[in-house]
Amino acid sequence: MLSQQHSDTQEPREGFASKVGFIFAAAGSAIGLGNIWRFPWLVGAYGGAIFLVIYLAIIILVGITMFMGEVTLGRYAQRSNVGAFKKINKSYAWVGGIGLIAGFMILSFYSVVGGWVIYYFIRAIIGFGITDPILTDQLFGGFISNPILPILFHAVFMALTIWICYNGVKNGIEKYSNIMMPALLVIVVILAIRSMMLPGAAEGLRFYLVPDFTKITSKTILAALGQVFFSLSLGMGSILTYGSYLGKKENIPQASLMVPFMDTLIAFTAGLVIFPAVFSYGFEPSSGPGLTFVTLPAVFSEMPMGNLFGSAFFFLLLLAALTSAISLLEPIIAYMIEEHGWNRKRASLTLGGTIFIIGAFASLSMGPLSGFKIADLVFFDQLDWISNNLLLPIGGMFTALFISWIWGTDNALREVTNDGLLKFDLGNFWANIMLKYVAPALVFIVFLAGLGLF
Ligand code: PHE
Repeated sequence: MLSQQHSDTQEPREGFASKVGFIFAAAGSAIGLGNIWRFPWLVGAYGGAIFLVIYLAIIILVGITMFMGEVTLGRYAQRSNVGAFKKINKSYAWVGGIGLIAGFMILSFYSVVGGWVIYYFIRAIIGFGITDPILTDQLFGGFISNPILPILFHAVFMALTIWICYNGVKNGIEKYSNIMMPALLVIVVILAIRSMMLPGAAEGLRFYLVPDFTKITSKTILAALGQVFFSLSLGMGSILTYGSYLGKKENIPQASLMVPFMDTLIAFTAGLVIFPAVFSYGFEPSSGPGLTFVTLPAVFSEMPMGNLFGSAFFFLLLLAALTSAISLLEPIIAYMIEEHGWNRKRASLTLGGTIFIIGAFASLSMGPLSGFKIADLVFFDQLDWISNNLLLPIGGMFTALFISWIWGTDNALREVTNDGLLKFDLGNFWANIMLKYVAPALVFIVFLAGLGLF
């Protein structure tokens, strides 16, 4: 599926077995740590419900439009990231290049968090047995600031990612994504129910669901924009690459609604797990990247069959994180193979190895190297901030502009409707209004405002 090493001479491209295959693979890319780890952390840090409201608005105004755009471009070009831009106009390869750099940076810290998940999976089997915020905080803080342990788990996570990409992901993601994603949703729903039954849960629900509009700032909006791109895997060619494997007869608009919907549903439900528990146990909602990891042990510790639920949860989260990590590494590998003639082995090992080393420094920046800060951010946070709040939105904005102005909305419309065979009532609105003007303009404005430029 994703493993063929084709060149510019058009061999028939392997595709997904069905639309459902694409939906699960794309959902596998989208659903990951972004939903369970990053989303609640940002909601907590940016004032609760107000972040949720802005996030949902951006999904509707920008996210779905961009998602459809990437799938359409990818399927038309039948190439991965950079190649797709080149095929249409050679001088725009750099748009894909922005995404590649973003993917590289994202995977460097993503795989560190993937390592945390492996560690927590093991801890959950043993059982956490702590509900005191001070103790769960110590567990997490002690672990991530350790100079060796988190790097070992980061190495395991990266090794798994490299191994899957190296062997080609053929039949892989499609097959296990379709059991894993529904299973993850089921367990998150169970946890949400449990969490909402905790004493004092109502206060958490209020924080998460009742917006305080006085808390809006341009930084909140920029963070929400970055999270939309991150969570939907936009702006770095992952969805574009998966789109290139989608069959010519499939219904792109339908598939492009399903994936953002499932992704948002899981993120939203994750918030229903975290915030009631945060308030019930007395955690600090704005405690940053550790929020999910300090809160959940308390939930599992006091839950009937907590070990079972805890380990099942972290196991499914690990699989979800892996399918996302693959979709981060694969476009970079595909680029080196397609454009620079590397073989798959060399590409997976060299790129994966480099990412591991950068990630090791990201991990150390949570502990021994935490004194080195630029703009008050440690290296881990810098990688996160630059890739998600700068590179993904910029890459996405130029992709939207490229599709609508360079490739042309008529061409995009022809592709998205399968040469006119498919009825897509909102097609014109999507291409000529949303993709051409609204989405890029919004990204641009939010971006400048978030950087404090006006
Ligand atoms: N969307 C993934 C997640 O939410 C992360 C990701 C970002 C994957 C960008 C691919 C590209 O975990």
